[in-house]
Amino acid sequence: MKVTVFGTGYVGLVTGTCLAEMGNHVVCVDIDAAKVEGLNQGRIPIYEPGLTPMVVQNHQEGRLQFTTDAKSAVEHGDIIFIAVGTPPDEDGSADLQYVLAVADTIGRHLSRPAVVVNKSTVPVGTADRVEAAVASALQARGAVVAFDVVSNPEFLKEGDAVKDCMRPDRIVIGAKSAKALEQLKKLYAPFNRNHDRIVAMDVRSAELTKYAANAMLATKISFMNEMANIAERVGADIEMVRHGIGSDPRIGYSFIYPGAGYGGSCFPKDVQALERTACQHGYEAKILAAVEAVNDRQKDKLFELISRHFNGELKGRTFAVWGLAFKPNTDDMRAASSRNLLASLWAAGAKVQAFDPEAMHEAERIFGQRDDLALTGTANAALQNADALVVVTEWKNFRSPDFGQLKQQLSAAAVFDGRNIYDPETVEAAGLAYYGIGRGRSI
Ligand code: UGA
Repeated sequence: MKVTVFGTGYVGLVTGTCLAEMGNHVVCVDIDAAKVEGLNQGRIPIYEPGLTPMVVQNHQEGRLQFTTDAKSAVEHGDIIFIAVGTPPDEDGSADLQYVLAVADTIGRHLSRPAVVVNKSTVPVGTADRVEAAVASALQARGAVVAFDVVSNPEFLKEGDAVKDCMRPDRIVIGAKSAKALEQLKKLYAPFNRNHDRIVAMDVRSAELTKYAANAMLATKISFMNEMANIAERVGADIEMVRHGIGSDPRIGYSFIYPGAGYGGSCFPKDVQALERTACQHGYEAKILAAVEAVNDRQKDKLFELISRHFNGELKGRTFAVWGLAFKPNTDDMRAASSRNLLASLWAAGAKVQAFDPEAMHEAERIFGQRDDLALTGTANAALQNADALVVVTEWKNFRSPDFGQLKQQLSAAAVFDGRNIYDPETVEAAGLAYYGIGRGRSI
């Protein structure tokens, strides 16, 4: 099929590439000329496992094109995806200006029937606004062209995006017309493994499904962080508790890892946006507000532990920080807990020596040159002359350091484990002080 994708961010680029991989002819359009130029030369702007070879191959074989020419892109697609950003507005609600600008562009150039698909995470009711924007642009040029607007939210995880897109758990399609639904079913047929993954519903339910999924996941994390904070006060170990509750299949083991708070471009923004939507409809979403508040507090957790260990005397100390990305397997530092930690350490007069396997260029872009930050080439280099080690992101290669060597290297002999990846007894046996999240010893 002929597919157009507006936006070459995470969602747009991965979706377009996977659709091309399945044999469709995909045109990706972006207003950022430098990005488009780079993509045409095989330069992928994000770190995402498996994505680069797939982009390059499909591009070489002519199934995947990148352009800034919106007109030809609109003319190309039987199915036109909108996958542009929806950053938070000042009040936390999703800013729809980019989505609506694309809708207007589609209306200005549409010359034959098409299905317009909302892939971006957008508040309930956005499909109606997109429909109105396309219709008004068509009307302004006196054109009469049939089109449908469908909601088809994306559930991919950064770091697993290609896998999630090629092997989806579910494909949610919110459509008003049977014809539009059929077209999307045809497009997604190759992604249906073994049994039908398509969950068809009305447009508003599809829009809310996306927010409900992210809000549920964020709730699990904040709930576990709350339990961790209780555990450390009552002398319990949250890791034991996690095993104890996860074995109940109604609760399950996944997504109940306590830590230094959730980050990324989705959970913080989506929880807030859903809260705003509820508020706009006269409902106070108390759980969502609590999920957000618990997470905001959790992002300060590591700093609190550090500050308590050093009796608030951090001036002139140096901290090795392992992990800057908001989670492993990505270079994304948006709303990452590391940023809160670094800001607090700097405000207290401490220095930071940081290493992340993928996010170093991103850290350089965000922080620039500063005297109190050294971005090191290796995890080991971050430890040189440091007082203590702080682990913020659980990259695999941070999981089994030589604790004996750490003891030699860290002058204050302390390890702060923001993701509970170490066994406290092993660390302490090496003569290091250990601090985790909710492990009964920190308070
Ligand atoms: C999230 C969802 O998982 C995807 O399903 C969704 O499609 C995506 O948002 C989106 O809306 O586009 P992502 O932001 O890539 O995906 O990251 P996650 O893997 O969900 O992790 C989010 C944060 O939660 C990370 O900071 C991670 O460290 C934290 N987390 C996760 C925990 O603290 N504990 C856990 O048990 C799991």
